[in-house]
Amino acid sequence: MIDLIIDTDPGIDDAVAIALALGIADVNVIGVTTVGGNSGLEHTTRNALRLLEFLGRSDIPVASGYDQPYGRDKQETGYEPVHGHDGFAGVDLPEPAATVVSTDSSAFLAEKIRGAQNPVTLIAIGPLTNIAHLVDAYPDVIPLIHRFVIMGGAARTGNVTPVAEFNIWHDPEAAKRVFASGLQTVMVGLDVTHSVRTREPLWEWLNSKGRFGEVFNGLIGPYTDFYSSFYGERMTHQHDAMAMAEAIWPGLMTSEAAFIDVETIGELTDGMTVVDLNMRKGQLPNGFVTWTIDGDDFHDRLMGAMNQLATNLGY
Ligand code: RIB
Ligand code: CA
Repeated sequence: MIDLIIDTDPGIDDAVAIALALGIADVNVIGVTTVGGNSGLEHTTRNALRLLEFLGRSDIPVASGYDQPYGRDKQETGYEPVHGHDGFAGVDLPEPAATVVSTDSSAFLAEKIRGAQNPVTLIAIGPLTNIAHLVDAYPDVIPLIHRFVIMGGAARTGNVTPVAEFNIWHDPEAAKRVFASGLQTVMVGLDVTHSVRTREPLWEWLNSKGRFGEVFNGLIGPYTDFYSSFYGERMTHQHDAMAMAEAIWPGLMTSEAAFIDVETIGELTDGMTVVDLNMRKGQLPNGFVTWTIDGDDFHDRLMGAMNQLATNLGY
């Protein structure tokens, strides 16, 4: 059993990642924190609350964090085409009845980490703004975190620029702070998430799952439209769910120890994760870069968990 805390900017692939976690019996989600990223904090928080409610888990406490980046003014992401203006492609989900238990994500995270009954895995699947503020405010909790996994960065590519991935690019100073904090980080970046294409037929099982299927088709359909405009086939990259899979099943991916730092001033390289595999600058590794995964196995695990969640909900 692991106690899992999810920091997230839902976000369509965030929703899939959360459903994956909720479909695995050995994962105990003890808290969710929301951050600005795919959409503004108001939207990402509303989405987290209404998604958990729809999935029968309004018992999971949600705290909102930061909308503005840690170290710079918010950059207009222009990324509405990916997740839509509200961050959930306008999906038909009712307003949440629940509200956040706190608007202080750092205090909430510190409390959950200190109070966990099982080894704590913290996963961040949005910009690292909340995590940077956490390590500033409560550095004492760093050694209490059993494992820290992020979806972010890349050793050799980018999706916002040729060398920068969105979660890092959105708040590079936060990422730089986190990588320098002493918190060993498993970086699930584009090197591995771009290696797996989740093609549309893999989701056909949703069509027999009633309202559950309607909601996730309502999310994944527009997300597929976006990727298809790039790749010319009906597919998506399930970035966050892949990071969630590595968090749930450690070692699912191949990885290599590295010293990872973040460019924050480069004209061409702003937001780039610089991955040093050979201690070129004499620094010991501060994390792991992930390289490969068995895509078919990942899909079996993802679809199995989401199907189990739908069944648990009576669909
Ligand atoms: O680059 C992919 C990441 O950016 C994912 O976390 C997605 O949700 C967006 O936040
Ligand atoms: Ca995300």
